[in-house]
Amino acid sequence: MNDLDPLVTEARAEFAAALTPADLENAKARFIGKSGRVTELLKGLAALTPEEKKARGAAINQIKQQVEGALNARRSELAEAELQEQLKAEALDVTLPGRRRGEGGLHPVSLSIERIEAIFGSMGFDVADGPEIETDWFNFTALNTPADHPARSMHDTFYVEGGHLLRTHTSPMQVRYAVQHVKRHAERETRGERVPEIRVIAPGRTYRVDSDATHSPMFHQCEGLWIGENVSFADLKSVLGDFFAAFFETNDLNIRFRPSFFPFTEPSAEVDIAFASGPLKGRWLEVGGAGQVHPNVVRNFGLDAERYIGFAFGLGPDRLTMLRYGVNDLRLFFDGDVRFLSQFKV
Ligand code: DAH
Repeated sequence: MNDLDPLVTEARAEFAAALTPADLENAKARFIGKSGRVTELLKGLAALTPEEKKARGAAINQIKQQVEGALNARRSELAEAELQEQLKAEALDVTLPGRRRGEGGLHPVSLSIERIEAIFGSMGFDVADGPEIETDWFNFTALNTPADHPARSMHDTFYVEGGHLLRTHTSPMQVRYAVQHVKRHAERETRGERVPEIRVIAPGRTYRVDSDATHSPMFHQCEGLWIGENVSFADLKSVLGDFFAAFFETNDLNIRFRPSFFPFTEPSAEVDIAFASGPLKGRWLEVGGAGQVHPNVVRNFGLDAERYIGFAFGLGPDRLTMLRYGVNDLRLFFDGDVRFLSQFKV
């Protein structure tokens, strides 16, 4: 025990009470600073005799060391506390799920078109693509719809420069594809040989001045064409029947042809289907148009209309998509709302 011990106890208490490095430095000054209490004690040695000085000096140095020890210990404590504080503030929860990039998916109508291509592909149909800006010839005249034909009024559309228009249907692809096909096989034709059958579908965008819950100014169609020497209405019905069964994944389905009129087919029909079960059970739903290709159109293909015969059809991929997924407003497909579209991600 030393009469100076209480000083050490006091210093320890003051250091402990210092909660920041600045407080601690102030406390240090009070004890071992220039005029701190321990420093003052050392200054007091000057008045003592050499022997007293020796004993007293040793005692003061001892407590000075203890005060310094306490100071250093508290410094480390505060530094450690500060580090912990900082670590806590910058804490990273490595178990949180990362921020991912949103994954895209195909549009529901694109999914349908892929299905349509795959199904008709399995029946030996080629897939063709063509321009959305069309000439009057391919869109109308070649399809037996001359300039003054009343059927044109149902196809009001968007005209662009040079008498071109946004195609009102995919039917012009019948002529574009057939003409190329006939050209490719022209030699056979001149030798009197048979031109191979034409079997093609042509899906794509089409345009008309029309807008409500079931019509959009831009919509999709899928044209189909099968031309040969002996292609009949019975073939048309079986091709479409097989297609719908595959597309909707059910054999519980009826198909009916309703007499209709299209300038480029004769006879012509509207195609309806009815499901034998499910929410739409028993309701006839119109899903497209079809017919036997008109001889005038066959001639525009560059083929002998006495020899070649067949059928064409036009399906609505938008409508098929609505039926398949139970969507009741066509506009949802074209609003671009990710909340809607992401539901079809596969
Ligand atoms: N092009 C017709 C339309 O847009 C649909 C159509 C009907 C296409 C009968 C055909 C067909 O190929 O044979 O209204």
